[in-house]
Amino acid sequence: MSASTVDGALAGARGAGLDRLDAQLLLGAVLGRERSWLIAHGDDALAPGQAEHFDALVARRSAGEPVAYLLGRQDFHGLTLQVSPAVLVPRPDTETLVDWALELLATELAGTAAPRVLDLGTGSGAIALALKHRCPRADLTAVDASPEALAVAEANAGTLGLALALLPGHWWTPVAGRHFDLVVSNPPYIAGDDHHLDALQHEPLLALTPDGDGLDSLREIVAGASAHLRDGSWLLLEHGHDQARDVQALLAAAGLHQVGTRRDLGGNERCTGGRWRQATR
Ligand SMILES: C[S@@+](CC[C@H](N)C(=O)[O-])C[C@H]1O[C@@H](n2cnc3c(N)ncnc32)[C@H](O)[C@@H]1O
Repeated sequence: MSASTVDGALAGARGAGLDRLDAQLLLGAVLGRERSWLIAHGDDALAPGQAEHFDALVARRSAGEPVAYLLGRQDFHGLTLQVSPAVLVPRPDTETLVDWALELLATELAGTAAPRVLDLGTGSGAIALALKHRCPRADLTAVDASPEALAVAEANAGTLGLALALLPGHWWTPVAGRHFDLVVSNPPYIAGDDHHLDALQHEPLLALTPDGDGLDSLREIVAGASAHLRDGSWLLLEHGHDQARDVQALLAAAGLHQVGTRRDLGGNERCTGGRWRQATR
């Protein structure tokens, strides 16, 4: 399908089923140009190698590979993060969790000099790095069961010059005996038989589903929370659009107070959190 001009290449990509933005982002990456340049240079010729490179990316995108994997990067909460197929592509919905955590750091935890913050299931490091970026006084620890994901998070922390303590292991296990002021997590929460998994086959299954009804990781994180929260600490969890009631019930049953839910940009109930208070006599 190799086209000889910028406009011809973009038209070919649209014909192969790509939307306009994806086609522009991929061609921009091949040519090392911004989207605005492409718009102003529609008649410019592509070198044969560039056209072939673009065709290969278009074919992979048509087969369902996320644009972020093809570009090797994704923007999240004002940061550009390196991503690979070892990590979930950070989603705009997750910025809801970051915004809520930043709000708590600026209000409830404003008087804490170096609030201890834990990100469970950090993947690319998206949440932890966004928090450290916007709240440099926070002391960030991030856990993931995938060594490959932790390598991506470590690379991102290095590139961005943001300090994170990265620990491998299963949920709370690597932080046994430690307490935090704020715990955040976007764990896998898609049910094992959810048809949406078919469209996500390029992303790691470990990041997407704990199998079963989708709630097992959330149950495990909530069950371990009281051993790691101080009096007054917060636990904030991202979940599926139809899981808010279940997560509220889990938090309340575990003894958390001030349980509430926030909506994402699409209006879906996306994050539920609560505050740990020691029982008073
Ligand atoms: C939905 S992804 C979230 C990634 C990242 N926090 C984000 O929001 O883009 C869930 C992450 O949890 C990790 N994970 C899955 N099971 C885990 C476990 N048992 N213990 C620790 N991390 C786990 C996965 O490797 C994955 O990186």
